Amino acid sequence: MLALRHVTKRFGSITALDDVSLDIAPGEFFGLLGPNGAGKSTLMSLVAGLRTPEAGTITLAGQPVAGSASVDRRNLGLVPQTIALFPELTAEENLSIFGELQGLRGPALKAALDDAFTAAQLEDRRRSLVKTFSGGMQRRLNLVAALLHRPKFLLCDEPTVGVDPQSRNAIFEHLQQLNRAGITIIYSTHYMEEAERLCSRISIIDHGRILALGTLDDLLTRLPFEDEITFAATPATAPLMAQLTAVGEVTTVDGSHRFRPRSGYPLSAFFGLTESLGLPPRLFVSQRPTLEALFLHLTGRKLRDA
Ligand SMILES: Nc1ncnc2c1ncn2[C@@H]1O[C@H](COP(=O)(O)OP(=O)(O)OP(=O)(O)O)[C@@H](O)[C@H]1O
Ligand SMILES: [Mg+2]
Repeated sequence: MLALRHVTKRFGSITALDDVSLDIAPGEFFGLLGPNGAGKSTLMSLVAGLRTPEAGTITLAGQPVAGSASVDRRNLGLVPQTIALFPELTAEENLSIFGELQGLRGPALKAALDDAFTAAQLEDRRRSLVKTFSGGMQRRLNLVAALLHRPKFLLCDEPTVGVDPQSRNAIFEHLQQLNRAGITIIYSTHYMEEAERLCSRISIIDHGRILALGTLDDLLTRLPFEDEITFAATPATAPLMAQLTAVGEVTTVDGSHRFRPRSGYPLSAFFGLTESLGLPPRLFVSQRPTLEALFLHLTGRKLRDA
């Protein structure tokens, strides 16, 4: 279990993290979703033990992550937001350096390198200089460089920035495979689709504070409205109106009705009603609220705002 308790980190007058408390259980795929400057990288660097907070504690399995009596660092891997590779060296030389820094030697190092090149789908580029790699290839190498020592806990700080859909998918699948094998992952991103696809729990973070935390479904139920359903205003749907206004709000724009049920009204009741009136389900378009809508609701700004 990773536990943060009342963690505050300042840079001069900027409070990058503000009294953050958080528990992450073994095996989680935990998302940190927030705009530029929210405090995601700061949180990662504190958990990795690279910086120390002004206030609060961070422990992994009960041991502090920084300081003289700290947890065994070999349990942790950090994929940094900025690519940390030597461009003038080959891919193999890069991974050898990182592997040796992580304490690997001889056959163990060779096996770790072979696995890493397979996972990154870069076997045929082992002896190429990193400066000749595309951005996506560098991202993939940057990711496997953090995994050579097989950490139990992986911190991924925006590992898909600037990569094409193929590389992005390769990274997603690799991370999902690691997570299925029992590795706990903290994953930061600006992209709600990534958080939705990958994360078992998501935190929305801004101005150094956690604004919301839960599974995707937990978060979406915090929106002030439940699912929204739109349908055409026709004679066929007219008999619905009286019944729907009794259980929610109906607005009509440009020949189309928009129904927002009262909190707690189940979608199944709506479709039970339409069925009893002989109306086919295809007449109705249900729109799930999105994380973006929740973020706007909580902060008044878009996820990608600077
Ligand atoms: N080394 C530093 N010196 C001064 N201020 C810093 C430093 N690192 C971060 N900050 C400030 O702390 C705040 C949080 O920054 P952080 O890098 O954690 O955000 P982030 O969520 O990772 O953003 P991004 O999505 O842009 O990577 C910002 O206001 C930033 O300017
Ligand atoms: Mg960052």
